[in-house]
Amino acid sequence: MHTSTASAIIIDDLHKKYRTNHALRGVELEVTAGEVMALLGPNGAGKTTLVKILTTLLEPDSGRAFVNGWNVSTEPEKVRSTIGMAGQYSTVDGLLTGFENLYLLAKLRGVGRRTARRVADDLLSRFRLTDVAGRPAGAYSGGMRRRLDLAAALVGSPPLVVLDEPTTGLDPESRLDTWEAVGELVADGTTILLTTQYLEEADRLADRITVIDRGRVVAEGTSDELKATAGNRLVVYVAGDHQLDAAARAAAQATGAIPTVDRRARRVEAAATDGRAALGRALAALEREDVEVLEIGLSRCTLDDVFLGLTSHARREAA
Ligand SMILES: Nc1ncnc2c1ncn2[C@@H]1O[C@H](COP(=O)(O)OP(=O)(O)O)[C@@H](O)[C@H]1O
Ligand SMILES: [Mg+2]
Repeated sequence: MHTSTASAIIIDDLHKKYRTNHALRGVELEVTAGEVMALLGPNGAGKTTLVKILTTLLEPDSGRAFVNGWNVSTEPEKVRSTIGMAGQYSTVDGLLTGFENLYLLAKLRGVGRRTARRVADDLLSRFRLTDVAGRPAGAYSGGMRRRLDLAAALVGSPPLVVLDEPTTGLDPESRLDTWEAVGELVADGTTILLTTQYLEEADRLADRITVIDRGRVVAEGTSDELKATAGNRLVVYVAGDHQLDAAARAAAQATGAIPTVDRRARRVEAAATDGRAALGRALAALEREDVEVLEIGLSRCTLDDVFLGLTSHARREAA
């Protein structure tokens, strides 16, 4: 069955267990053609498992997934012909040159030699690898190697590219490089599903973000929508160090949340889900505690606040 192609990915109630470890517990997800979707989640959330199912490397236990209209379980070869994939670990062959890697992949896609050569040359130039095209990929820097990985995912111009943690383990400069390369794909209109543990990456690259945790989707939306769901933060600056504890007490009373205290900045912050009402209560509580306030206000949550709030148990368990 070939369903409508307006959705690049449709995932319905997907489950996957490794023995007793329930890695995916009913994942629902839809990615529209042409958009960049970030699958954001901590280590062990189930990102790679989901990506492996979508790219037909792994069978789900139950549920359904469609990629470009094709069912991953019953039409895997159709799915494979319409996606490009770059994993968390490099898949290019280190003994082959950059050119040879891309050339062979193009040949595998069934094109003739001349076309394969052109595809390889074009991609090498797009990803600024022309100068090192004749060198074994094993000798490339981390950033160059990721660029070659991305180029490899683009051989055959697939309408959907799946990138599993494309910048994990990269130094900051190579990360910027990779972001630029992903930006190139976006300009092309390619649909992208990328997984990441980095908020900044999701915020920067994605049109929409799906937060996944312990095998479930826990939030979904644009970065602005996600920030809005988390409410505000109450921020209080006090005049003296000795007033910080009293200010923290007042902030806790006003918000019902556990405040964080930055002693150096003499600042107390707490999540305030009901915004202005919390601000009013905070003013009264600070007055009762006799705190000299230098500055008080509400600030919008950052994506970090949202992510930390949604996935805090993961760190508690790790601790
Ligand atoms: N091959 C495997 N065998 C057993 N457990 C696995 C295997 N692969 C992943 N897991 C477990 O499944 C869960 C999800 O893992 P994974 O999909 O790799 O998460 P992520 O990519 O978000 O870090 C984790 O608890 C992980 O330990
Ligand atoms: Mg992973």
